[in-house]
This record gives sequence, C-alpha cells and structure tokens, in this order.
Amino acid sequence: RKNIGVLTSGGDAQGMNPCVRAVVRMAIARGCRPFFVYEGYQGLVEGGDKIREARWSDVNGFLRLGGTMIGTARCKAFREVEGRRTGVLNLIKRGIDALVVIGGDGSLTGADRLRAEWPEHVAALERDGRITAAEAARYRTLMIVGMVGSIDNDLTSTDMTIGAGSALERICESVDAILSTAMSHQRAFVVEVMGRHCGWLALNAAISTGADYLFIPEAPPSHDDWEASMCRTLKASRDAGKRTSLVIVAEGAIDRNLNPIKADYIREILATRLGYDTRVTILGHVQRGGAPTHFDRLLGTLQGAEAIEAILRATPETPSPVIGMLENKVTTQPLKEAIELTGQVAQAIAAKDFARAMQLRSQAFAK
Ligand code: F6P
Repeated sequence: RKNIGVLTSGGDAQGMNPCVRAVVRMAIARGCRPFFVYEGYQGLVEGGDKIREARWSDVNGFLRLGGTMIGTARCKAFREVEGRRTGVLNLIKRGIDALVVIGGDGSLTGADRLRAEWPEHVAALERDGRITAAEAARYRTLMIVGMVGSIDNDLTSTDMTIGAGSALERICESVDAILSTAMSHQRAFVVEVMGRHCGWLALNAAISTGADYLFIPEAPPSHDDWEASMCRTLKASRDAGKRTSLVIVAEGAIDRNLNPIKADYIREILATRLGYDTRVTILGHVQRGGAPTHFDRLLGTLQGAEAIEAILRATPETPSPVIGMLENKVTTQPLKEAIELTGQVAQAIAAKDFARAMQLRSQAFAK
C-alpha cells in the first residue's frame, strides 16, 4: 500500500483540479493512500499540516473548478539545496513513497533535480541522524511523476499541456468581444497574450480569430524594417474592405536582434504611420482564470489516472516519468529527457537559432 503525495506548482492552469481529483481517486481505487501537499514545493519545505491525507470526498466538485484548490507557489526555499533536503525529510517522515508534481517547465525542472539529488539527501540526513538507517534503506529512491500543467504549452513531451486549451478558449472569447467594438469604430487593436517564451497561445489565437499580423518569440520578423511590412499588410486588408485591424503579440515576442517587441510600440506605429485609431489590450491573468474546458477536464483526468498506474508499474530502476498526450494517446516518457529537450529549445532561441528551435519542437512532437 503506497503513500502518494500530489502537489501543484508554478503558475496555476485550468485543469489542475481535475488532474488532482483523478490522482486522489485513482490512488484510493488502487488501494493506495493519497496525500495533498499544499502550496506546491512550499508545502514540502514546511511539512506539518501542509501535507495531509486526502479522502475521496475532498475532491468533490473539482472537475469544474479553475485554478488549483490545493494552492501553488513559486517557492524560493526549494531552489536552495537546504530547502530541498528539508522537503526530502518531510516526505520520509510522512512515509511518502511517490510524488506527483503538476506544473510547468520550472516546476518539473525542480522535480527532476529532486529526483537526481534524492540519494545524496537521504545519505546526508542519515549521517546527520535526522533519519534512521531503516528509513534510509526504505526510502532509497523516490518515484516522481510529472504532469505538465501550464497555459503556455511550452513543454516538448506532450502535444497539449493541461490548461493551454482553456486559456486559448478564453483568449478567443476576449478577442471576439474586442472585435465587435473594433468593427463599430473601425479601430485597430493590438492584443498581448501570455506564453512567456512560447508563442503557441499567440499563434493559435491569431489563426482562430483571423488576426492580420502576429509576433512570436520563435519566429522573429526576418528583417529589421518589420514595421513597414506590417503597415503594408494591414493597409492592404483595409483596402480590401476590412473595417478592423488586429495584431496579436506574444508577451515574449522579440525582433531578430532579440529586442522585445511591445504592444505599445506597435500601437504607436499604427497610429503614426497609418493614422489608425489604435488601442492596446493586455489580456493578462484573465487567460489563466475560469473553469476548465471539457478538453482540460479530460486531459487532467486521463493523465492523473495514468500517473497512478505509472507509480504502481515502476520498479526502483524505473526512471521518473512525465505523463503526456501525443497523437491522442496518453504517453509516459522519462522526465529527464523531456526537461533536457525543452532546455535545448530555450538555448536555441537564446542563440538566435530559430530554425533549430522549431526543429527541436517538432522532433519532440513527432516522437
Ligand atoms: O507560465 C504561465 C504564465 O502564465 C506565463 O504565460 C506568464 O508569463 C507567467 O505565467 C505569469 O506569471 P505570474 O502569474 O507569476 O505573473
């Protein structure tokens, strides 16, 4: 009978609650004991009542709730070795055999580090007399299962991260609303969407709302005078009868010299060069709010259930997995590889090698 902890970490995402619900209920159904770890890694470091056994009824209603009911945090203490060691101590003292982490890129990198350092921490805790030899022998390894909860869709191990679909839906609703007023006034709108270093939300929002122009970090404008080319495109579509102009800009958009492209700057260009009455809307955290769509409920549920199966299948030699969804199938891949590949994409962007970044992303999707 395994004791399984579950935590949500980093920025919240719609679909995290359905995922937690599935972990709890599947664990109970398979004869295990689930534990909530509240406030992400902060709860691991604090221990005490931040780690509490979860009952079946504790997750009633979770399917339709946005955010994360067990809390999340971006925890500074966990970035330090001492913080992680305290986390290991708290897990061992509560008898936790496996940990399910639902979070984004940074949170899963933290999980991977904890996995890699685990034997070192256990040895140090035994040396310092904080755990017994019997505990050190029983908790030689910790199985960590990752699931990607992030609106950004920026991890390479899965076609869709939990929350990305709901955020995209929210963006589309908001842009549709903006376009009705834009049309009345024949205005131009520049809409900034989230996604940190990943343009997935912006790209898909642009296609889904019929935007005239788009800026994303992975594909900066190919020449320096992008302002002129944007103006030409927008003017051509007005000349063809369109009453509005819509530019979508990802919050991490950059030009080919890696300088940020900001919504206010685009507004200024459209106003001065084309004379358009232009407004900026920064959608911000509304994109992360509200109820999950049916797809994120499903994604969270299927992956949460698979996380428990992966724990039950594992031997001490099994590498910690990340659960994902590729080509409509729930998948299990080594967490370490997924983190490394995602890191390579970020490095390629930092080195201005945009073609390689795109190639790495599609390589991961093709797996
Ligand atoms: O990673 C999710 C995300 O929403 C990003 O798209 C955004 O850049 C960031 O989190 C915002 O973080 P915070 O909620 O801490 O302001």
